[in-house]
Amino acid sequence: MAKKDCIIIMGSARSQGNTKQALSMIPGISGAPMVDLKELDIKPYDYEYKNQNDDFLALIHRLVEYDTWVLATPVYWYSMSSTMKTFIDRISDLLDIHKDVARKLRGKRLFVVASYNTSLPKGFEDTFEQTCGYLGIEYLGTSFIYSGTENSELLQNNIDELQKSECIFEQTD
Ligand SMILES: Cc1cc2nc3c(=O)[nH]c(=O)nc-3n(C[C@H](O)[C@H](O)[C@H](O)COP(=O)(O)O)c2cc1C
Repeated sequence: MAKKDCIIIMGSARSQGNTKQALSMIPGISGAPMVDLKELDIKPYDYEYKNQNDDFLALIHRLVEYDTWVLATPVYWYSMSSTMKTFIDRISDLLDIHKDVARKLRGKRLFVVASYNTSLPKGFEDTFEQTCGYLGIEYLGTSFIYSGTENSELLQNNIDELQKSECIFEQTD
């Protein structure tokens, strides 16, 4: 897959932190366009849809132009960041009141890059796998990138984790 087909959606609480660093370890996507959710105004899900003037819908219109979405998130408390979760919650808007846009998600592909520094989180992928199943998106997997320096086993594991992404994203430069 060429990097022009993919877009990175970053959901860390800091823009230049370990998650950004993890992305730079994947040559096939390091030059891909990136959206930093922290820079956008994306409000929590609202049953009354009183948040429609924030940046979410415009972001989705941009994202649907790409075949593959790379969600990049730190592991916070064994799960994705709240920034990323808020973004995913808002996909419900599409199913409820923007069905034409929701249909455009079908057939897309999703890969996850997760930065962590204590231990591999159990069950982390289940949410992404099930979400993709529900939305008709092909789930490509998750690369878990250890951001610490002390645990040699986890550092070694990064090699395998990076290989997962290398199989999917070909290096084009
Ligand atoms: C609120 C919070 C919760 C965290 N929870 C976990 C965790 O459950 N498991 C883990 O391995 N690391 C955990 N960490 C460490 C981060 O996953 C790790 O430092 C990651 O590389 C941070 O990426 P960032 O710099 O993009 O935020 C946590 C960090 C924070 C700030």
